[in-house]
Amino acid sequence: MFETKILKPGQGSHATREQLASTVDEGLTLKKKCLPSWLIFDNTGSEIFKKITELAEYLPAACEFEIIRNHKDDIAKLINIDTFNLIELGSGDGCKTRILIEHFLNKKLNFHYFPIDISNGAVTNLVRSLENDHPDTSLKVTGLAGDYFEGLKAITQDDSKQNLVLFLGVTLNNMNSESAKSFLTSLRESLGPKDYLLTGFDLMKNPKLLYSAYNNVLFEEFNLHLLDRLNQELGANFNKKYFVQQGQYNPITRAVESYLYSTRDQTVHIKALNKDFHYRAWEAMQTEQSFKFTLDEMESLAAENGFEVVEHLFDSRKYFVDSVWRVAH
Ligand SMILES: C[S@@+](CC[C@H](N)C(=O)[O-])C[C@H]1O[C@@H](n2cnc3c(N)ncnc32)[C@H](O)[C@@H]1O
Repeated sequence: MFETKILKPGQGSHATREQLASTVDEGLTLKKKCLPSWLIFDNTGSEIFKKITELAEYLPAACEFEIIRNHKDDIAKLINIDTFNLIELGSGDGCKTRILIEHFLNKKLNFHYFPIDISNGAVTNLVRSLENDHPDTSLKVTGLAGDYFEGLKAITQDDSKQNLVLFLGVTLNNMNSESAKSFLTSLRESLGPKDYLLTGFDLMKNPKLLYSAYNNVLFEEFNLHLLDRLNQELGANFNKKYFVQQGQYNPITRAVESYLYSTRDQTVHIKALNKDFHYRAWEAMQTEQSFKFTLDEMESLAAENGFEVVEHLFDSRKYFVDSVWRVAH
């Protein structure tokens, strides 16, 4: 069974024009202009991000692929109920999860896969490609296009099944402590005592390695795509030619911060807001942040938000960890 359901509007490609407009207005009126990275993730943004994850220098993806490949059996061992839900928050193209799906199918496990993503295109493509690859299996897939928690609400109402929730990639790294707290609180409230969360964290490493991961042609294209989206959806008149991207590790905030720099003095009009925004030459607008964790910081984050760490799954260089958590009792 393969199906896709569209949930209520939320963020990303599902945001209503009003939600987009008010987020952009808020971010561009700040003294230091700053827009949230979810704005980049419409269908095209998700496609560019998929290409980034295939770059050798983008270590988070390379390391997490290695973890999933090497620890798929450890992950399967978390399942102790006959039928379970494999729920993926922000599935994107589901590339890493496909390794687990193959493994679970080979082990004849009985599960229902629910990829949830605000990118409608990403969910639809993922469901379609799983259907093509597995036409004659017992695999059940319900793609949910919408916000994480709208999706979770739709699935976890039936608490008879065990849920293995995947939150792969670096999305928790991208959240500031307030957003991470609110995300983890909502997640904890959606999970039962037999459920597990497998969540990815990019760990602190040599800043030179961090630099090359966040400074390449594709990363620049990804960040600049934000301007395309504002032009298309809000009638803005950004000219991408007059912006460049750079990411750097900031030891004070302990995050890699990505900025679009205006290469000249310019004024941009946004029709949907009926407003002009001025950029001074070389003014920076932040478009992304990725906090880098030590293991201790990550374990404190779990404890402070009502989770207990069950185990850590590392890549061979310990650059990244997929950590298995459950709700603390
Ligand atoms: C950094 S990508 C990670 C993709 C994939 N999990 C991976 O590891 O490559 C984050 C994904 O989360 C999705 N996303 C971001 N905010 C979301 C939200 N509030 N609800 C659902 N999906 C969201 C984006 O569309 C994107 O596909």
